[in-house]
Amino acid sequence: MIKKINIAIDGPAASGKSAAAALLAKKVDYNYMDTGIMYRSFTEYCLKKQIPFDSEDLVTQALELFEMKWVNGHFLFNGQPVTDEIYSANVTKNVPKIAALPEVRKIIVKRIQDIVKTQGFIVVGRDIASVVLPDAQLKIFLTSSLHARSIRRYKQYIKEGINIKQEQVYEDMLLRDNTDKNRSTGRLIIVEDAKVLDNSDYDLQVTVAKLTSLYHNYFSH
Ligand code: C5P
Repeated sequence: MIKKINIAIDGPAASGKSAAAALLAKKVDYNYMDTGIMYRSFTEYCLKKQIPFDSEDLVTQALELFEMKWVNGHFLFNGQPVTDEIYSANVTKNVPKIAALPEVRKIIVKRIQDIVKTQGFIVVGRDIASVVLPDAQLKIFLTSSLHARSIRRYKQYIKEGINIKQEQVYEDMLLRDNTDKNRSTGRLIIVEDAKVLDNSDYDLQVTVAKLTSLYHNYFSH
């Protein structure tokens, strides 16, 4: 049996990392963890509870009480499974504000590390290789051009019946990229030992095939 490793996959919004990583995890029989879900679910909770985002103290207090559990390969938040609401435009717009708060990041990073105590995880996010799992054996930075990513996201919105202009999707994504890249902690960076994969011209199948090759290459070297 091949020994298991941990794989960190970082990349900007709509780089296709979640879908591709989930398929890779299935193929190689690993746990797949999308950490964006933690930031999104907590943001949804703060919006519902009307917690002022500009008060790091109040947000942090709320996070201390917001239970995040990993049960049989899935998250439960305050005992409830994730709903589609976390992908709403309102949550998507607000999540980078919450994710930029250093205290919030500290708590969520620790929670991820407490779950990923063994090998055999594919963890997806922005700061996985740099902060959360710096010892991950395989680090991948999956990216695509802003143009390719905004077209992908636009098509997704249209398919879901969401009425939005392509230019608006581009502008929103640019803003989210900039917030994720420029915050004080856990910013989106390419670590020195990351394998960079640009999938601007690849569909999901090709992206998964490239990720699978990176995985097999790790063991053959
Ligand atoms: O990956 P996804 O688009 O679902 O992530 C939503 C947001 O959560 C990102 O824009 C980013 O602000 C934040 N995030 C983060 N660190 C992670 C995962 C997500 O800051 N590890």
